[in-house]
Amino acid sequence: MKHVSTSYGRSVGSIGHLFKRAYSTKQEGGRLAGKVAVITGGGDGIGRESCLLFAQHGAKVVVVDVNKKRGGETSDLIKKSGGEAIFQYADVSVASDVAKMISIAEQTFGKVNVVFNNAGVMLSEDDDAVNTSEETWATTMDINVKGVFLGCKYGIPAIQRAGGGSIINTASFVAKIGAATSQLAYTASKGAVLSMSKELAVIHARQNIRVNALCPGPLRTDLLDKFLDTDEKRNRRLVHIPMGRFGQAKEIAQAAVFLASDESSFMTGTEFLVDGGITASYVTPL
Ligand SMILES: NC(=O)c1ccc[n+]([C@@H]2O[C@H](COP(=O)([O-])OP(=O)(O)OC[C@H]3O[C@@H](n4cnc5c(N)ncnc54)[C@H](O)[C@@H]3O)[C@@H](O)[C@H]2O)c1
Repeated sequence: MKHVSTSYGRSVGSIGHLFKRAYSTKQEGGRLAGKVAVITGGGDGIGRESCLLFAQHGAKVVVVDVNKKRGGETSDLIKKSGGEAIFQYADVSVASDVAKMISIAEQTFGKVNVVFNNAGVMLSEDDDAVNTSEETWATTMDINVKGVFLGCKYGIPAIQRAGGGSIINTASFVAKIGAATSQLAYTASKGAVLSMSKELAVIHARQNIRVNALCPGPLRTDLLDKFLDTDEKRNRRLVHIPMGRFGQAKEIAQAAVFLASDESSFMTGTEFLVDGGITASYVTPL
């Protein structure tokens, strides 16, 4: 039987055995066992799927949202399936709400290991430079950029108190490439999230705090469904996706679990693209 040595020089058995260990959550108590995660925008889409998947992998989850009904539902779903979760209301663009979200997490579960700054908006009035109003610009920046900044401002000291951890900031593939279907404020906000994440990653790299940006491609969530409300609008995008389909929120949640877990222990400052190949492509398959 071929034995494999881990980085600790310990023989752990056959390749098959190692595979089983890596993919069985039960044997190791879950990939996020012992971790406390705060997830914003947990009432819907990527946030909800992430809350559910984080809990499934053993994390205690603080579900955060402005939508009390949807956020409460997510927390209830976790508790009903045997996990640990609370719902905490916060508007991520309001400093006192974000400070409270972190302190409630510490009071309830004793520490914070993971902050997933995921809440974001894409406003339907968002357009090109000429047609986007200052109000649309300001609201988008307040939630998408200031919201992530505040999550880091109050989350980082808590993660330091816990001895280290992982911050995941939801950016987007639109931070990487331009689109003629303009949504200028949104695109600029996601570019800011990407730059902010890289700088924070470098600042905190020797403090056992990792900061990664997660860049989803277009997904079938409420956010995109509201925006792409006709076949014509949807097909205008689909032709540019090599895989020929929109992604699912769960496919982003799976990436978030990886970035939150110790499996990504040598990753910081990345722009983790989960986009069906969009940013790699020139001409897509027929
Ligand atoms: N859906 C996509 O195609 C797509 C693609 C790339 C990136 N993203 C990004 O992923 C993140 C999640 O998007 P989604 O598609 O799951 O959206 P969604 O609309 O399905 O869910 C967003 C959640 O955030 C909450 N929220 C909105 N404003 C908030 C605020 N100020 N404070 C707290 N909570 C707030 C909403 O109530 C909602 O529950 C966003 O940052 C979005 O920009 C989405």
